[in-house]
Amino acid sequence: MFKVLITDPLSPQGIDILRRAEDVQIVEKTDLAPEALLKEIEDADALLVRSQTQVTAEVIQAAKRLKAIGRAGVGVDNIDVDAATGKGIIVINAPDGNTISTAEHTFAMLIALARNIPQAYQSLIRGEWDRKRFVGVELRDKRLGIIGLGRIGTEVAKRAKAFHMDVLAYDPYLTPDRAEKIGIRQASLDEVIQTSDFITVHTPLTKETRHLIDSRAFEKMKPGVRILNCARGGIIDEGALLEAIQSGKVAGAALDVFETEPPGDHPLLRLPQVIATPHLGASTREAQENVAVDVCVEILHILRGEPFKNA
Ligand code: NAD
Ligand code: MLT
Repeated sequence: MFKVLITDPLSPQGIDILRRAEDVQIVEKTDLAPEALLKEIEDADALLVRSQTQVTAEVIQAAKRLKAIGRAGVGVDNIDVDAATGKGIIVINAPDGNTISTAEHTFAMLIALARNIPQAYQSLIRGEWDRKRFVGVELRDKRLGIIGLGRIGTEVAKRAKAFHMDVLAYDPYLTPDRAEKIGIRQASLDEVIQTSDFITVHTPLTKETRHLIDSRAFEKMKPGVRILNCARGGIIDEGALLEAIQSGKVAGAALDVFETEPPGDHPLLRLPQVIATPHLGASTREAQENVAVDVCVEILHILRGEPFKNA
């Protein structure tokens, strides 16, 4: 029997796949304290997580039989992939299942930011009827700068084009052929930063992308620029963003992710120019079902020594 330890909530459609497998024992324990996780992982053959469980080198060292770690989602920044690889443990994610949900969420945030929808709603339910304070901007003919034109960035670009936005993208790993196929003009990071009316980031969080948008980047931006982060907290330097909003350089920001989650009483959340959601990009029934099913199917293949798709 393979012990599959599940430490974050996963959609039942995925878990049912494991439940039907005669060679799998499921141990589902969410909200484990770090010490309890070290104990539980000892005899696990596979570990399934979302973004909450921190799979540190210490956790990986405590595992005696672990063959695979499955991330029901895209970002693997909560997993010490080097430590896992060093021990011959395969790390897989579910790269496609939440693309559309996250792109749609980004677009919802883009429109809400342009039209002050959350702020206007808050004002209305306070009993006010203030039409002057919430005058917004159109998206048509505005330049959207996309940093990171992968799966989600591409879907955001398609939606922006449907709204007649002028879309520009920076992605050092994007080939000119692919950019042409998507119908997007590629540009340098500086051009995206200096000329965009809206800037949205869709890169992974890596050493290279941590604080990619910092105070120097904000200095170069157009006055009145609006910023979106539905990728990972830490790609944008939150302190620099706070200053850029307070100085009036940045007109507004839409954030789904934070450097520390939950962010607690974060100064950005007290600014009326900031709208935010609690890491909801992938929170749709469809996306959660997709990522759980994808990762459970692949984990079974790995445990059984069968060919698998993603590592
Ligand atoms: P992806 O791998 O398809 O795309 C990432 C893109 O970033 C790639 O095209 C890559 O070339 C590019 N990139 C890498 N380094 C870069 C750099 N220094 N500058 C510019 N571009 C760079 O991934 P995806 O599915 O599009 O997801 C992107 C990120 O969104 C994930 O890594 C994850 O952290 C985050 N995400 C968040 C949510 C959410 O709930 N908010 C949901 C899904 C994904
Ligand atoms: C992801 O990387 O897939 C997202 O952060 C979504 C999530 O797992 O909540």
